[in-house]
Amino acid sequence: MIFATLKEVLDRARAGKYAVGAFNINDMEIAKAIGGAAKEERSPVILAVSPSAIKYAGIEYIYEIARVTADNSGVPTVLHLDHGTSFDDCIQCIRYGWSSVMFDGSKLPFEENVKQTADIVRIAHAAGVSVEAELGKLAGVEGHVSVEEKDAIFTNPGEAKLFVDRTGVDALAVAIGTSHGAYKFKGEANLDFPRLENIEKLVNMPIVLHGASGVPKDVLDKAAKYGAKLPGAAGVPNDAIKTAISLGVAKINIDTDIRLAMTAAIRQVLAEKPEEFDPRKIFGPAEDAMKAVAKGKMQLFGSSGRA
Ligand code: G3H
Ligand code: 13P
Ligand code: ZN
Repeated sequence: MIFATLKEVLDRARAGKYAVGAFNINDMEIAKAIGGAAKEERSPVILAVSPSAIKYAGIEYIYEIARVTADNSGVPTVLHLDHGTSFDDCIQCIRYGWSSVMFDGSKLPFEENVKQTADIVRIAHAAGVSVEAELGKLAGVEGHVSVEEKDAIFTNPGEAKLFVDRTGVDALAVAIGTSHGAYKFKGEANLDFPRLENIEKLVNMPIVLHGASGVPKDVLDKAAKYGAKLPGAAGVPNDAIKTAISLGVAKINIDTDIRLAMTAAIRQVLAEKPEEFDPRKIFGPAEDAMKAVAKGKMQLFGSSGRA
């Protein structure tokens, strides 16, 4: 297989007490930035492709972009379906050559999530493809969360143990206080580390942290300076990322920070050089900005030098 599996990359990360970044890709520029960062950092990397990225780019384009990215970087590269929500999403990617799929049944009742995840695991494993699943809800986490709310929406450690035993997944995404995107938090994410520790002890497998962007203030300020109308927001602080890794998080999903870096750089060129219309002079600086962010994440996650 051209691509490494999620299982082999994450089992090594867990043993080495570091995490591997899963970066969402939608086009050539983003993929080149992530692959270039992985090459320079000598870091394993996960190229995450969502169903809407497949819809946007076309499966043929995004697969080939990922293949060339893996070839050029020369580091272990996983091609991973991010947030597949149906059997068809997962099977399409398995057939096309993805080395890993996420089935996100987190919105389903527990028993239905177990059933659908187990069905996908059986097929994926027969094809040599890894599976990540999700338990608990990331959506709607805003600022302070009460104990009752945490129990209702965060991952329950006992259920997590039952879930992994009954499904045979290779990695488990948990809800411990992060949220997707840049807009939901009015302050920094407050992660439930005791819960994470309990889950890790019980499931004894790589844990995945979604919604892990830091949403740095300097990037938001830069975007605002060049005309963006983004609400003031913050994400997960670097210290919290390090603690999460020390407690067993082995895969960290980043999309928002790359999106912000890309669009802030594009806004800067367009604002400072209104006469510019060569796309390469607009997307080139954006690629450099994304690569710098990805390299910083690889250093933070401890995956640099591990390939
Ligand atoms: O968690 C979702 C990722 O950020 C992908 O987002 O569905 O807009 O491609 P998307
Ligand atoms: P962010 O929105 O915090 O970057 O999270 C990305 C993610 O979880 C992709 O699955
Ligand atoms: Zn996610």
